[in-house]
Amino acid sequence: MRFRRAILVLGGIALWSSCSPESGPTAPPGRAGRSDTVAALRRVVAEAERCQPCHPQHYEEWRISMHAYAVEDPVFHALNALMLKGQPVVDEQFCMRCHSPLGSLFGETLPGVRKEQLSPVARQGITCDVCHMMALPHPAGRGVERFRLDGARIGTLPDPAPNTFHASVSEPLLGQSEACAPCHDVVNPLGVLVERTYTEWRESLFPARGITCQVCHMPWQEEPVAVGGPVRRRHRHLMPGVDVPLSEFPGREQLLEAVEYLLQNALRMTVTVPSEISRDGLLRVRVVLSNTITGHDIPTGSIFTRQMWVEVVVQDAATGRVLYESGTLDSYGDLRTLHSMDVQAGRLPLDTALVLFNGTALRNGRPAFFWEAHTVEFRTIPAFDSRTAVYAIPPPPGGWTGDLEVRIRLRFRALPPYLLRSLGLGELVGRLPVFDMEQELYQVRIRL
Ligand code: HEC
Ligand code: HEC
Ligand code: HEC
Ligand code: HEC
Ligand code: HEC
Repeated sequence: MRFRRAILVLGGIALWSSCSPESGPTAPPGRAGRSDTVAALRRVVAEAERCQPCHPQHYEEWRISMHAYAVEDPVFHALNALMLKGQPVVDEQFCMRCHSPLGSLFGETLPGVRKEQLSPVARQGITCDVCHMMALPHPAGRGVERFRLDGARIGTLPDPAPNTFHASVSEPLLGQSEACAPCHDVVNPLGVLVERTYTEWRESLFPARGITCQVCHMPWQEEPVAVGGPVRRRHRHLMPGVDVPLSEFPGREQLLEAVEYLLQNALRMTVTVPSEISRDGLLRVRVVLSNTITGHDIPTGSIFTRQMWVEVVVQDAATGRVLYESGTLDSYGDLRTLHSMDVQAGRLPLDTALVLFNGTALRNGRPAFFWEAHTVEFRTIPAFDSRTAVYAIPPPPGGWTGDLEVRIRLRFRALPPYLLRSLGLGELVGRLPVFDMEQELYQVRIRL
């Protein structure tokens, strides 16, 4: 039997960040009425470990996902601290409303709080009950602020078997992209839509085909969804994207594999290279990148830190000597842009041909952090769109001397090493993976 009590939700919490500055990191701020609803919420939410005995597979997948890592992430804390140093701080709970919605509502995430001080359930970031107790619908881009207070878990099963721990309530919206929209669009404190994965998806042809976020990020398999229960469609909860934990966190290798698989099936690369050119001829390389399989732009979301780029290396086939390169890394692992220390010191030339996909947040026309931006410049590939890069490579002085080997790779990483160093997290650079999404090798004959 379905549980049918009226949905009680926690309202008006949006004003919290403007409340009593004198409350300590663990004291729930706000008026008495709100404290009551917060206390009620505290009573009903549970840590993921409480779900584990009955939903062991959901737990094992979630535990190593980026959702579980959302307030463990040292990059997150470094950037959150930077935001809180800004003057004036427009909305001190801005980051936490998505990264630890429960910690934010519980009043635990005041400036200066360390992750060790968070209650266990708040420290789990986007824990089971954030998604399974949230009130839907929720507006896009503003985090999760309203929860059910009746202890029931929302789901999409047609006829859930009863259990001794929780009531089950049908919520069809949980099976739709609208369940992801509160966090996978980001509206900054100035009201600017700075990250827009949900919007990109909604504006694509995918919704009309019924292809939701869940279809691609939560594929199902036929098996019980609870220990001892009937075989059903169990949705996987690993939800790989492009990120993996950089600090110590369980399951990194497993997530790495899933991310690599996703990225290698994210777009199509078509390369045109001539099979033969003359001794003094230009070598023309054309690379077309078509986003026909991803439900949003590539990259999407935190495009300010993402890097997807084309690497082209031309070598003398006989000696291996490099005659041309673009998209290769400097001795610190950075691309040869103005951020490269080797370029700054004049040790390496600027990579003027670099084809790089990402985005820049702008304030008064200048690069800024996304939380203070007025506009965003997108250098991404929208769904069902494509981008073409053309390289016209001149022969070295005196002409090509022998046959050539041309290697083309499409590469991706979540963030650049210079960003980690600038945040004081340089020790994590060695743990930062670069994924090869596509690669091809061509031979070019030189007519001597
Ligand atoms: C005592 C065992 C038990 C525990 C503990 C438990 N569940 Fe369940 N849960 C079940 C059973 C049984 C079902 C129904 C399975 C079925 O019908 O196939 C279920 C169903 C669900 C559903 C689907 C509901 C629907 O209407 O579609 C969700 C979501 C859910 N559980 C989440 C959780 C979360 C989150 C936790 C931890 C906070 C949790 N469960 C803890 C046994 C449990
Ligand atoms: C309460 C907010 C919230 C909700 C709801 C939410 N997410 Fe997330 N999601 C996040 C945050 C925050 C991260 C990034 C965590 C980190 O990297 O520190 C994330 C990460 C991800 C990633 C990995 C991204 C990467 O770059 O590796 C995927 C994929 C994802 N979410 C999919 C979904 C899907 C699908 C849904 C809906 C079923 C959903 N999320 C619902 C907040 C949320
Ligand atoms: C048709 C399949 C498909 C659909 C639908 C889809 N995704 Fe993705 N998603 C992918 C692929 C492939 C990637 C890896 C390429 C990339 O980064 O864009 C990805 C990457 C991501 C990432 C990490 C991206 C980054 O570059 O930082 C997030 C977050 C994400 N998806 C969330 C969502 C959400 C939320 C929805 C629904 C609004 C959604 N996805 C719908 C296939 C899909
Ligand atoms: C980011 C949001 C999110 C988080 C976190 C999350 N879930 Fe889910 N879960 C979903 C969505 C969405 C569905 C339904 C997918 C659908 O029907 O398309 C679902 C479905 C379920 C179901 C119903 C059976 C199934 O597989 O469809 C159970 C049980 C469940 N989740 C348990 C858990 C447990 C336990 C945790 C924590 C260990 C957890 N979930 C964490 C979003 C989440
Ligand atoms: C409205 C929800 C929301 C808000 C507000 C938000 N984030 Fe996120 N954050 C996300 C989602 C969703 C992702 C995953 C997106 C992706 O992978 O593309 C993410 C990913 C991240 C990541 C990991 C990606 C990376 O760059 O490697 C960091 C770090 C991060 N956020 C920091 C912050 C900080 C700091 C703030 C506040 C200044 C903040 N976020 C505010 C939803 C939010």
